[in-house]
Amino acid sequence: MRSDVTLRRLDEGLLQDLLDVAVVDADPHEVMPPVAGPAGWTDERRTAFSRFHQSRSLSAEPAETTYAIVVGDAVVGAARLCPLEGAEHAVEAGVWIGRSHRGSGVGSAVLRHLLVLARADGFDSLFVSTKPDNTASQRLLAAMGVDLVREGDSVTAWVDLVATGQG
Ligand SMILES: CC(C)(COP(=O)(O)OP(=O)(O)OC[C@H]1O[C@@H](n2cnc3c(N)ncnc32)[C@H](O)[C@@H]1OP(=O)(O)O)[C@@H](O)C(=O)NCCC(=O)NCCS
Repeated sequence: MRSDVTLRRLDEGLLQDLLDVAVVDADPHEVMPPVAGPAGWTDERRTAFSRFHQSRSLSAEPAETTYAIVVGDAVVGAARLCPLEGAEHAVEAGVWIGRSHRGSGVGSAVLRHLLVLARADGFDSLFVSTKPDNTASQRLLAAMGVDLVREGDSVTAWVDLVATGQG
């Protein structure tokens, strides 16, 4: 596993770096909920990106924990852990990495960091949902030895954090 990949809890300074990376190295639909209007990184989308993270992760009562993915000293993407409503001790993971850093093992390292963080936070299982055409995500999960379940337009997987944390 790559040793130069770290996760840093998001703060206002890292959020500005994250926005810069998203604008230069990712498409809006890969990194944030849809915003109406013309395609691309409009002023509205940039503002919505920052507000999204401020409300979800940097507020007094955050709904999820977001991390900046750092390679060396450079922010290259984001990872998040969001407790699942209605499922005790379960958390959903999400990741995006800038285009220029994809396909070189960063995602694999990030997933392993997320497993450690989720376990440390007391979660028993980690949920991931992706799209059928997202081969990289599915290969990341398959490497964990988990079953992938296709339902309609999504592919989901549960990682047992207790079993995968032993040995
Ligand atoms: C999905 C994503 C996080 C994967 O991270 P990554 O750093 O590119 O992945 P890695 O380099 O660690 O590769 C993981 C596996 O996917 C494979 N892979 C990577 N890119 C691939 C591609 N474009 N097509 C097919 N397989 C690919 C790798 O070969 C590796 O498989 P292996 O271990 O069997 O060899 C990243 O591509 C990304 O941010 N994509 C855009 C946003 C997104 O889709 N997020 C996930 C939503 S669930």
